[in-house]
This record gives sequence, C-alpha cells and structure tokens, in this order.
Amino acid sequence: MAEDNNQNGQNGNGNGGGVKLLSKMRTKVLAGVKEDVQMLKVDLPAKAKEQVELVKDPTKTQVYTSIFRHKHDDTPRNRALGVLSNVFLHLHPAKINRDSVRYSYTWGMGGITFYLFIVLTFTGVLLMFYYHPEKVQAFRDVLYLEHDVPFGKLLRNMHRWAAHLMVIAVWLHMYRVFLTGSYKKPREFNWNVGVILLVLTLLLSFTGYLLPDDQLGFWAVTVGTNMARATPLLGHEGPFGHQLGMTPYNDIRFGLLGGSIVDANALLRSYIWHCIGIPIVASLFMIVHFWRVRKDGGISGPAPVMLEAEVKEPRGAKAAAHA
Ligand code: HEM
Repeated sequence: MAEDNNQNGQNGNGNGGGVKLLSKMRTKVLAGVKEDVQMLKVDLPAKAKEQVELVKDPTKTQVYTSIFRHKHDDTPRNRALGVLSNVFLHLHPAKINRDSVRYSYTWGMGGITFYLFIVLTFTGVLLMFYYHPEKVQAFRDVLYLEHDVPFGKLLRNMHRWAAHLMVIAVWLHMYRVFLTGSYKKPREFNWNVGVILLVLTLLLSFTGYLLPDDQLGFWAVTVGTNMARATPLLGHEGPFGHQLGMTPYNDIRFGLLGGSIVDANALLRSYIWHCIGIPIVASLFMIVHFWRVRKDGGISGPAPVMLEAEVKEPRGAKAAAHA
C-alpha cells in the first residue's frame, strides 16, 4: 500500500515536472523564433543582396562548393587539386608532357579505338532490344530493323561502321606504338596487354559476323571455324590431335560451334561471346591498359625540348673524343 502511494506520489510529481519542462521548452522555442524574426528584419536586405550575388556567380553557392572543393583559377596548385579531387578528372594525370599528347605523335588512335568501343557498346545494347539469336528469326529481326524500326537502319549501320573502324583504328594504334618505339622498356608489359586487346577486338568482329545469320556470315564462320580443325593437340586434323583422341565431335571446333556444323547452337554461342563474354574481358584488359599507361610514366612522348646549355653529354663521349 505504502509502495502504491509512493508510486502515485512519484507519478504526480512526474506529471507536474513534465508540464513545467514543456512550458520551459515552449518559451525557449518562442524566444528563438523571435530572435530569428528580429535577425531577418535587420539582415533581410543584406541576405537578399547576398543571394543575388550568388545567382550572378554560381561558383560561390553552397551546392557548387560542396561538389567542387577547390577554386577554379589558374594557380598550378589549384589546377592540380581540381583534377585530383574529381572522380572523372582524376583518371587523367594532373600534369602531362605537352608534346606527348600531340596528335602528330599519338595519332589519337588509342583514344579513338576506345571511343569506338563505347559507341559499339551503346548501339549494341540498343540492337539487343530487337534481336533474337534464333535461326530464321535472327535474319527476320535484321530485316525488321532495316525496314520498319524507326532509325533502325541508322542504328545497325552505326554499329557496323563503328566495328569496321575500330578494327582499323586498333591496327593503326599498334602501328604508331611500333613506329615511336613505345613498346620498349618500361612499356613491354603494356604492349602485351595491347596484343591481347587486338585479339579480343578481332574476336568481337568475328563473332558479330554470324549474328545476322545471312549467307556472308554463315560462310565466313564456316571457313573461320574450319581452321580450328588444324589446331595443334586440340583439333582433330591438327598435329597430335589424332593421337590425343580428337574427332569432329569432341575437338576445339566442336566446342566453338556447340556442334559439328554451323547451326543454331553456333548462333547462340556467337551471340553470348559477342554480347557478354568478350566485351567484359576486353573492358577488364582496357582498364589494365590505361592504368599501365599512367604507371609507365604517361604516354611515352618525344624527348622534352631543352636549351643547348641543359643538354648533357652522354657518358664516355669526352673520353671517346680524346682517344
Ligand atoms: C581495344 C584496343 C586498344 C585500346 C582501346 C587502346 C587504348 C590506348 C590508349 C588510349 C593509349 C594512350 C596513348 C594513345 O592514345 O596513343 C594507349 C597506349 C598504348 N597502347 Fe593501346 N589500346 C589498344 C590496343 C593496343 C594494341 C593492339 C597495342 C599493341 C600491341 C597497344 C599498345 C599500347 C602501348 C605500348 C601504349 C603506350 C604508348 C606510349 O606510351 O606511347 N594498345 N592505348
């Protein structure tokens, strides 16, 4: 009973305390609001002026400064910080040798190859909306795209031409790298990554060939995969293939086609390699390739221009001249 009374007493006290607390809070809030209103009355013209100034120069707004943390001016430090603190720009080095990015040196072919890969990925995904990798239906889809789908012909041709151009651009890029000797130390590894990229580019082109399921693609893939018969060890007509038990029904060509002839399985396999397998592998190798360009000291570039006084004689040249 005593306990009950005590509890009731406590509750009574508690309720009284709650009401007091509430009224205290209310006065505090009211005081705060009064203060704000007072401040607004005094500062309103200044605040309005500030806002108008911000509209004139959006780089000073809170939104802008929350995204770009550094001033956009020409001091080397701020320019470097601007590049380093931006997710997209930081992919590029903060400083580069001006001569190494001249088109007359790089021909821009590596960049163009990459750009064409992006165009191909984008148009390729759009083409997937209209294409079924099935016998008969595949060719019908191509006809439908060419004649009925709005901009379908443009879409298909963009994909085709970008594909042809990518193959040309990647060869030219490799040729330029060879001519400028950029395959030499320390870039040997990246040259090898490049060779893999070249093979992947050609494989993308080859697997795309069959997809329209027309006569051209059919015979191209027939001839192409027939070469796989002669693969050493893995082809049934290749060296040691017979000894290893290779037949037309279990060799590498069978694996590529998903059968012993170019038919529905070959079409499906081409489609999956073309749209999923090879693009993913190629993207991974491109990431390594670009990363390596940075780590190898940027694009090789011609020797920086120097004053005559800055040119050092090669070691041993003096001794050779005296001898
Ligand atoms: C999908 C294919 C490829 C792409 C997208 C690509 C892209 C690039 C890019 C953007 C650069 C920067 C310099 C420039 O544009 O010239 C570069 C540099 C380089 N690439 Fe490629 N590349 C590809 C294939 C190849 C191939 C086939 C080779 C050689 C077999 C190769 C070897 C190199 C080397 C050694 C460098 C460094 C060159 C230097 O420092 O001057 N790349 N690549």
